[in-house]
Amino acid sequence: MQDSWYNTNQTGHNDQRSIGVFDSGIGGLTVANAINRVLPNEHLIYFGDTAHLPYGDKSADAIRYYALRISKFLLEQDCKMIIIACNSASAAASDMLLEFFEGKILFANVIDPLVEYTVQQGYKNVGVIATKATISSNVYHKKLKSKDQRLKVNQLATPLLAPMIEEGFFNNNISQEVIKNYLSDASMQQLDSLLLACTHYPLIRAEIEAYYEGKVEVLDSCDVLAYQVKKMLTQENLLSQQLTQPHKYYVSDFTQSFEDTAKLFNGSQIELEVKNIW
Ligand code: DGL
Repeated sequence: MQDSWYNTNQTGHNDQRSIGVFDSGIGGLTVANAINRVLPNEHLIYFGDTAHLPYGDKSADAIRYYALRISKFLLEQDCKMIIIACNSASAAASDMLLEFFEGKILFANVIDPLVEYTVQQGYKNVGVIATKATISSNVYHKKLKSKDQRLKVNQLATPLLAPMIEEGFFNNNISQEVIKNYLSDASMQQLDSLLLACTHYPLIRAEIEAYYEGKVEVLDSCDVLAYQVKKMLTQENLLSQQLTQPHKYYVSDFTQSFEDTAKLFNGSQIELEVKNIW
């Protein structure tokens, strides 16, 4: 194991420092929820950058700036690890964050574990739906193809979905119409698997599965990432053995939908604070 600062602070096998998780809004809550299920003793500090959402139509430079500032904030909160719980930010900023904070803190992104899992399953025709930022980065296509040349990868930008979900429109007529409209695109036919390459989309997973009548395997990053986090913390000897305080939620701007969705995952009591870090 490398001797870097993030394991100098540990107290035996019980490192109770927090895991920082960030996204533009509620999407990363799907990831935080999975981490909470797989690692119930870990304390989470969540940052939803609601002042800047959607990230999906921002430039890569703007997203990198937000990601850098949020990561600095999470580091100041003494986090032992940061999860980039947003595909748009993972695509634009993951390499930069790793380089900038090298040796200071562990990072995980939502793209690599999903790519790895998809390739292991041996699918042949993979569809990818995501924000404009993620699709234009071409990151899924590049990473999937580099691991398996024979894979057919069809990508489609679905920019209405994240704002629609953020506004609380899911499991209703409107979301079903929008989903149908996107998925009827020629590129989204004849798939054996569809990657939900935006962390907001697990909230409409059932509607997408229903659209394909169960004939397409619908995959997201949540569980595969949570197990990856467990593996990394175990390897670095940074696991916590006990949760001693409620998870903490920060947003850069108050939105009712964020509070409602956070409560949906965590019950009626959540510690939500508006934090202007710019
Ligand atoms: N949830 C984010 C993602 O995974 C971003 C959605 C957005 O803000 O556009 O890409």
